[in-house]
Amino acid sequence: MKLVLKKEAATPIHQQIYHQLVNRIQTGVLAAGDRMPSLRLLSKELEVNYLTINKVYQRLEEEGYVEILQGKGAFVKSPHSGHTFPQIDGHQDSFTPLLTRSQYLMQRSKRQYDFSKAVVSPGLLPSHFLADQAKTILDLYPMILTTYGPVEGDEELRTEVSAYLGNQLGYRPPIDEILITSGVQQAINVVANTFLTPSDTVAVESPCYGAALDTFMNRGNAILPIQIDRDGMRTDLLEEQCRRNPPRVVYVNPTFHNPTGTSMSEKRRKELLELAETYHFLIIEDDSFNEIYFDGVLPPKPIKYFDTTGHCIFLKGFSKTMAPGIRLGALIADKELYESIFIAKASMDVGSPLLNQKVILPFMKTQRMKDHLEKLRIALQIRRDMTVEILENHLKDRITYEIPKGGLNLWIKLPEGIDILGLQKRASELSISFLPGSACYATNEPTQEIRISYSGLSDRENTEGITKLAKLITDLI
Ligand SMILES: Cc1ncc(COP(=O)(O)O)c(C=O)c1O
Repeated sequence: MKLVLKKEAATPIHQQIYHQLVNRIQTGVLAAGDRMPSLRLLSKELEVNYLTINKVYQRLEEEGYVEILQGKGAFVKSPHSGHTFPQIDGHQDSFTPLLTRSQYLMQRSKRQYDFSKAVVSPGLLPSHFLADQAKTILDLYPMILTTYGPVEGDEELRTEVSAYLGNQLGYRPPIDEILITSGVQQAINVVANTFLTPSDTVAVESPCYGAALDTFMNRGNAILPIQIDRDGMRTDLLEEQCRRNPPRVVYVNPTFHNPTGTSMSEKRRKELLELAETYHFLIIEDDSFNEIYFDGVLPPKPIKYFDTTGHCIFLKGFSKTMAPGIRLGALIADKELYESIFIAKASMDVGSPLLNQKVILPFMKTQRMKDHLEKLRIALQIRRDMTVEILENHLKDRITYEIPKGGLNLWIKLPEGIDILGLQKRASELSISFLPGSACYATNEPTQEIRISYSGLSDRENTEGITKLAKLITDLI
């Protein structure tokens, strides 16, 4: 069972070992009842301190992956996944996963009060309208299932996206600069495949949307975490780093940032562009939440709005406002970059499903989208307010957070001394989950932060779950 460690990688060694062992257990390479390699053996094989391996095994035991029997060793507990690699004696050793981290490992089990995922409750999204469209399209054009769509995306949809973004971007992007992707997550991967070699550095907000970190770290990219404050990414800190060693790409989620909910100020957006021009890096602007603003206050214009030199690649998400299951997003890049991105997208999946693209078209074309967004903002603002009210009632002055002006998340700092893993365990006994802040950092520094998404449940469940969680935290304090 060969593990591969990259000693120079940003991910700490113990975390690399942990993720690879979890991966072996989840994929069935290490099956229930199997004896784990002894501490001594693994420490020798990996040339890593015995105590480091011991720490990893303790964590695996705490999280229920293994059982440590005194004097006998560690044994894999029950299977954690139905998926198994073919078990051919000796051969599994040659399938060495290159993945070093995943935010998804932190939030796999289903909980009744699931605050760990930044999703919108399906009841607030146009499920029935989209389902009716799907039926109609399938009846009228059954061949939509048996033809390839264009790699760059359906022309009608790109035309509609261009009109939709016109206001926000200050210009209608030409349709040959628009690429339809299977969600923003794929767009991040496509851009990474196009422009990043494993030795490149990517600067990110710290904290950062965890699945973007996964993408870059699993490619082997060094991560440059840049602290954020109330105005978003600290461009002064980024500039300091640029003087020494500029990153190749800066990934930002500047509007209602996941996980903190903050928005980058207009001044910082312009400064970031200036840095991109000076130090010649690309900006990936992840715009997943722009439409979800509260209190009637619009967020600042996107970075792409101010971009006159083509340094910014703009990613528009439809998962939070329309339909995550349909898996669609749009990427806007200037002509010079577009051609290479097109090739990367083609080699990834030859284009996103045509049916899905046709299904959202009528929704975007009519007044429906606008009306829906109005209602969605109101519903989510109510949830944000309810959540804040409950937290204020139970935990006033004992926790710290900024009230988000948009988006789906509340980023909470708990008092020192509260063990986040312990809290997570106690919460899961009440069928509650949240995202531990550590999922949003590239390094393994201890953090007292957690992310709660107030958007995924019904009003009633949200109130019940937040109240239970607040009481639990009160008990622990
Ligand atoms: C900041 C951010 N970017 C991208 C995504 C993924 O979005 P999509 O469903 O469009 O792939 C998410 C989902 O939570 C997100 O929060």
